Amino acid sequence: MKLFVVLACLAAPGTFPFVDAATVIPANSFSSFSTYWNNFYPWGTDHNGSGRMASANIIVASNTLSLIATPTSNPSPPTSTSNPKPAIHYASGAIHAKEHITVTAANAYTVSGEFSAPTAVGTWPAFWLTAVSGWPPEVDIGEWKGTADNWFNTFNTSSVVKSTLVDWPTDLSFHSVKAVLTAQSNNKDVKIDFYMDNKFIVTQYGSGFVGKAMYLIINLQMEGSSGSPGPSGRTVYKARNVQVTRTGN
Ligand SMILES: *[C@@H]1O[C@H](CO)[C@@H](O)[C@H](O)[C@H]1NC(C)=O
Ligand SMILES: *[C@@H]1O[C@H](CO)[C@@H](O)[C@H](O)[C@H]1NC(C)=O
Repeated sequence: MKLFVVLACLAAPGTFPFVDAATVIPANSFSSFSTYWNNFYPWGTDHNGSGRMASANIIVASNTLSLIATPTSNPSPPTSTSNPKPAIHYASGAIHAKEHITVTAANAYTVSGEFSAPTAVGTWPAFWLTAVSGWPPEVDIGEWKGTADNWFNTFNTSSVVKSTLVDWPTDLSFHSVKAVLTAQSNNKDVKIDFYMDNKFIVTQYGSGFVGKAMYLIINLQMEGSSGSPGPSGRTVYKARNVQVTRTGN
């Protein structure tokens, strides 16, 4: 009887425990926001652009997240508290997942979502994973730097990075991005398969990413790597159906 059960599992991959996926963040997570998400970056309101995150600029309605950047005047303090300490020109929005993502031999992850991303000069939205402790790992699943492109990036070191650009429509229509992160057989490196609109685009590899916890962040940063000056009006970056699943227990 036992043998029969084992064989049956092998024959039907969906029932084999390793293949089963656990839902870490469900597609409707914005409807239970505080269960899954915190406001801002894990380290606070400031980062590497001219936007300072504020709760009023983070709006959730109908399971859709809207991060809204608006020009600001007389910010205090006047410059970002994060390197390279750019001047603050906008109030904007960022959130991060409460759960960390740690790829191991037993735990592969699939991270996906649908985004309406601004591509105007000076707008720098992102959907990305970054190291909880030290840096890298960093994996950018969505990074739009003020042009009609999304950048898929994996950083091995601050200067050793693999980037793959995909065309991104400028009409603010929703498109999906996805990354599947799997430990390599050396149990050190992580293989990352990137998709846009469910079409496979590229594989990148993260050196030594196995076992390193990462944050998942969605943010609308401004200027910085996306050029300047940014928009004089309001900019909106939307996300929906953001989902994280994990194989294994
Ligand atoms: C700045 O933040 C973006 C995410 O918004 C990240 O991809 C990038 O690596 C960061 N750059 C630096 C120099 O910290
Ligand atoms: C990062 O390291 C991995 C694993 O050693 C390697 O396969 C990949 O090519 C490296 N990426 C870059 C940009 O050097």
